[in-house]
Amino acid sequence: MSLGNNLDTLYRQVIMDHYKNPRNRGEFDGDSLTVNMNNPTCGDRIQLQMQVEDGKVVDAKFVGEGCSISLSSASMMTQAVKGLSIDDALKMSEIFSDMMLGKDYDDKTFDLGDIEALQGVAKFPARIKCATLAWKAMEKGLEGQKEDKE
Ligand code: FES
Repeated sequence: MSLGNNLDTLYRQVIMDHYKNPRNRGEFDGDSLTVNMNNPTCGDRIQLQMQVEDGKVVDAKFVGEGCSISLSSASMMTQAVKGLSIDDALKMSEIFSDMMLGKDYDDKTFDLGDIEALQGVAKFPARIKCATLAWKAMEKGLEGQKEDKE
């Protein structure tokens, strides 16, 4: 799908807003599920923390160093994942991965909201790892929770 210029501009504004005013930036005082992940192509990294209770992500925060795409994606992901069950969070991550691969993605199961602003990244293969950094961290943390239970 080719995006119109107006939509492109709007999406760029959404990305820059999350970059400049990151949601959920910080660290928890108490116990949390902590995952560190880096982008091997540039060395940028994020630390993601999630609070998981009864199989649900009740809260999430991140800190890190990276480009506008990686940090805005972390901001959007932490916003979107709150309140989701582990299975739903992992499902959303699969949908995001489809979006990054430029495939038709499921936009019905969840309200993707701001996340759709990142769909243009699929056109820039070198940036896909930036956009997926926080999502890979989320997957790693939550897959670990599932394994603990099994
Ligand atoms: Fe390093 Fe984007 S350039 S995460």
